[in-house]
Amino acid sequence: MPARLVVLVSGVGTNLQALLDACRDPEYGAVVAAVGADRPDTGGVARAAAAGIATFELPLSAYADRADWDAALTDAVAAHEPDLVVLGGFMKLTGPAFLSRFGGRTVNTHPALSPSFPGMHGPQEALDHGVKVTGATLFVVDAGVDTGPILAQVAVPVEDADTPASLHERIKVAERAMLVDVVGRIARRGFTISGRKATLL
Ligand code: GAR
Repeated sequence: MPARLVVLVSGVGTNLQALLDACRDPEYGAVVAAVGADRPDTGGVARAAAAGIATFELPLSAYADRADWDAALTDAVAAHEPDLVVLGGFMKLTGPAFLSRFGGRTVNTHPALSPSFPGMHGPQEALDHGVKVTGATLFVVDAGVDTGPILAQVAVPVEDADTPASLHERIKVAERAMLVDVVGRIARRGFTISGRKATLL
């Protein structure tokens, strides 16, 4: 049986699209069971709908507080019985309810080389700092901001003429390839965690 993925998005969804494309090959070992967003009208949800995949949208503003939103997100994801949850440009921290249900089987992709530049502005902060190499990190989600055990990283050189947008676009090319490779490996073989060290099987 292929592994069931639920992918959570906030934006245009090119990482999601890369997974949707990979999942068309039965040998890949995974299917996208559903796509969820924390806001309306994301490109990610539109891509999923175009592919005939179930979608859900849970804006934080529709809930009394963050705990209610976290519980609703947990239930919405659980309804699709995922083996693995993939945060593909999901711009919210998942909360305690979500982590107690899906901790250890939720991965996130971040456009910087962790532990540098966590948060929402990885490419901008890398440029501001003047680093010559940045990249993307795929990690197992924990309660922190981009702090979980690292599954894979890919390096991307910074060019003199880079803007935050040009650097982010180049990171995203490498990021998508890494995401597709590693999610497939997890779907087929899994991974282990010992302390901070995550190992793909
Ligand atoms: C990706 O680069 C992802 O790493 C980043 O948002 C982009 C989403 O692109 N996520 C974060 O910055 C989370 N801290 P996409 O919508 O085209 O997949």
